[in-house]
Amino acid sequence: MAEVGAKWTDGFESQRIALCKSDALVNSGEAQPFDVLYCGQSCLAFAIRYADQVHAYLNRCSHVPMEMDYQPNRFFDLTGHWLICATHGATYSPKTGACQGGPCRGGLVKIETSEIDGVVHWHTDPQLHTVNF
Ligand code: FES
Repeated sequence: MAEVGAKWTDGFESQRIALCKSDALVNSGEAQPFDVLYCGQSCLAFAIRYADQVHAYLNRCSHVPMEMDYQPNRFFDLTGHWLICATHGATYSPKTGACQGGPCRGGLVKIETSEIDGVVHWHTDPQLHTVNF
């Protein structure tokens, strides 16, 4: 896990970005969407809660780089144990983003998160930045 404030060899320093209140994310429930700049491209990302832990990923399927939610902010399958892509049914582990089944080509891009004093944060890294409007 990347430490906030840690410096990479190129001098990059990670930031912690407040996203939502902790109680906005319930186990296997709806996701909280957010915008990021990933490798210079504007992308959607999402945070979910699974088994009491918050995880976040780019909203980009590894099969075809499309957004995955079948309804806005709905990523869990009917079991509540897998994240599923609406287009061709690739499934991913909510804990790691690893491909579990279907036509995935690798896993989801994971984004570091933390919860502090009832607030969920995501962390920037050298490829992942905030979008400045
Ligand atoms: S685009 Fe996600 S499974 Fe094909």
